Amino acid sequence: MNGSPEAPERPIRAITRLMHPAKKREGEDTPYVEPRPFSPDCLRPRRTRFSFDLDDVPNYWVGGSPARTHLFNSINVFLVPFEEFMVRVLSDQGQRLDDPELRRQIRGFCGQEANHARAHQIFLDTLRAQGHDVDGFLHFADAMFSRVLERGLGRDLSLAAIAGFEHLTAFLAEFILDGEMLAQAPPALQELWKWHAAEELEHKALAFDLLRHVNGSYPLRIAGGALGAGIVFGFLGIGMALLFTEEGILFERRTLRETLELFFTRDKILTRSIPVMLDYLRPGFHPSQRDTRGMAERMFAQVELQVAEDVPRAA
Ligand SMILES: [Fe+2]
Ligand SMILES: [Fe+2]
Repeated sequence: MNGSPEAPERPIRAITRLMHPAKKREGEDTPYVEPRPFSPDCLRPRRTRFSFDLDDVPNYWVGGSPARTHLFNSINVFLVPFEEFMVRVLSDQGQRLDDPELRRQIRGFCGQEANHARAHQIFLDTLRAQGHDVDGFLHFADAMFSRVLERGLGRDLSLAAIAGFEHLTAFLAEFILDGEMLAQAPPALQELWKWHAAEELEHKALAFDLLRHVNGSYPLRIAGGALGAGIVFGFLGIGMALLFTEEGILFERRTLRETLELFFTRDKILTRSIPVMLDYLRPGFHPSQRDTRGMAERMFAQVELQVAEDVPRAA
């Protein structure tokens, strides 16, 4: 993941370095998200500050459940290299465009994804400190995205895969913002995932719009949709299986029961995603047709309220 010292700096690192993460105020360990209203027509990254104290993060930090915890842990691991991949592909596409408005939106999108990757990278250190050997999976995912997808698929199919991935990511974002699964999670992790989910809803149409702009082929969009779905569920499943295996609980009855509940019978992540994926096949589909504005607006309104309430305490 980190590469050799001689390796050229990747775009994501350059972007992240330029963003100047918020300075930590003295005596303040609470997570911080810069308050700014939902604005899909003017994408910009919000400054954030996250730290995940090992004492505050139990091994099974999602309600004491191994399956639910490793669902989020697994996504956390493969998101870091995938978001780096998205930044590279979209930055490259953006440089080829004449449309200044679309270029500005791409910069906002890349800034948000770079920021997400940086925040999830911080949590990777917590997972390592908990004893999880996440680096093998991280290297595997990074190699798949950078060598197989980026170099093997070409520019337009990579972008189509990202548009498909973003469609399913928006579904997962709704699952996070609309559900109760993280209600018992440590506050910093609730903030991390809710902020990320709300920004995913904010920029959910950008990759799709860019794909339509550069290549409006329907078969290309559908191939990308299939690839995106394969990436989300493939890497999510591989990551969870590796984490279960590492802990020696892969074939335990509780693990199997919780996993079935998660995907098929209680939370129904996989079952509920099927109509969402089928919707992507409609020739007239556009991400904005699914109204998710309210839940993202509520999340950003909460952030504004929290920050406003923090001011007198900090003064
Ligand atoms: Fe993201
Ligand atoms: Fe995204």
